[in-house]
Amino acid sequence: MANQALLENFPELKTPVFVITEADLIRNGKLLKEVREKADCKILWALKCFAMPEAAQTLKPYLDGTCSSGLFEARFGKENFGGETHVYAPAFSDEDMQKIVKLADHIVFNSFSQLRHHRPTLQNSGREIQTGIRINPEYSEVATKIYDPCAPFSRFGVKAEELEKQGIKEISGLHFHTMCEQKSDVLERTLDVVTKKFGKFLRDLDWINMGGGQHITNEDYDRDHLVKLIKQFKTAFDLKTVYLEPGEAVAINAGYLVTTVLDIIENGMPIAILDTSAANHMPDVLEMPYRPYIIGSGQPKEKTYTYRLGALTCLAGDYIGDYSFDKELKVGDRLVFTDMAIYSFVKTCMFNGIGLPSLAYQKTNGETKLIREFTYEDYASRLGAKL
Ligand SMILES: Cc1ncc(COP(=O)(O)O)c(C=O)c1O
Repeated sequence: MANQALLENFPELKTPVFVITEADLIRNGKLLKEVREKADCKILWALKCFAMPEAAQTLKPYLDGTCSSGLFEARFGKENFGGETHVYAPAFSDEDMQKIVKLADHIVFNSFSQLRHHRPTLQNSGREIQTGIRINPEYSEVATKIYDPCAPFSRFGVKAEELEKQGIKEISGLHFHTMCEQKSDVLERTLDVVTKKFGKFLRDLDWINMGGGQHITNEDYDRDHLVKLIKQFKTAFDLKTVYLEPGEAVAINAGYLVTTVLDIIENGMPIAILDTSAANHMPDVLEMPYRPYIIGSGQPKEKTYTYRLGALTCLAGDYIGDYSFDKELKVGDRLVFTDMAIYSFVKTCMFNGIGLPSLAYQKTNGETKLIREFTYEDYASRLGAKL
């Protein structure tokens, strides 16, 4: 008999499927709203981490707007969420900027050359758009190299000596993003550095955006400390607005990837082949790398039956990891991966022609709505097939 506990999770849905849970988004939203109110700051939803129209409807009461990595996210944010639309990218094409100026309230440039290149388009837009510059404080405590925006030769942001040369006449604020899944103590040390290097400019600016990477809604995060830091900083530089733009904190623990065991083989250990892929459906598992939690599972050998969980693709390293279970896995068992809204939902691909997981939304009343299934047409049209 298949493992009952696993089958009970979302039994009505065909797998693989992402299930986003409204109740968890509301929990995160309420915590963020509390910070907004107590700290008198604005919080934007970083769409790069997670984006979904249903979630936007749910999150509207709790956040001030969205922040985007370019044209498509900006349009998505404007059309699905509203509020303030902020955009930052390492560079913008002329074609994209023509459209971005119709959508954005804030555009943060990565360099003064980009700012000056696009300034005529901003001026001709007939809209009042706040412009900012991303700074590189050359301070980050991010240990994983691929996520460190302040690493040597980083392409992100302007250093203090460059800002000194260029001045701040053309901008109304500064933006930094230097953190990744970190707590308020890291922000405090970062703000000390920003104060030392950029404090003299801040007094003459209207706003600062402190980026994302702040795990504000995580269990052990000290939100009172965050509130204190923001209030102090805002007062010290007489800023009109402090922005935060978290992604993970908006959607942490609000999504599941439900998968099915398709086969079990043996090669020195039992290997279960799932109807998913780390490379295609949860690429951060390989990129970061990290080990996602599966409901009811343990570390290898912690429970009686240990399996290597393998994926459908041809990539030899496409394993999700080794997991143990109380009961033997059987073909047809469902394995439910947790915390899959963040940087999984938005990062999927169709390598090997493997279909994308369907998308579902579980409302607070427990009803689970299937939002979208993907078909051969989705795969083939991306490749230029005329269908
Ligand atoms: C500029 C910027 N803002 C916000 C974020 C969101 O960060 P997180 O999802 O870690 O909160 C990122 C993530 O890479 C980013 O690059």
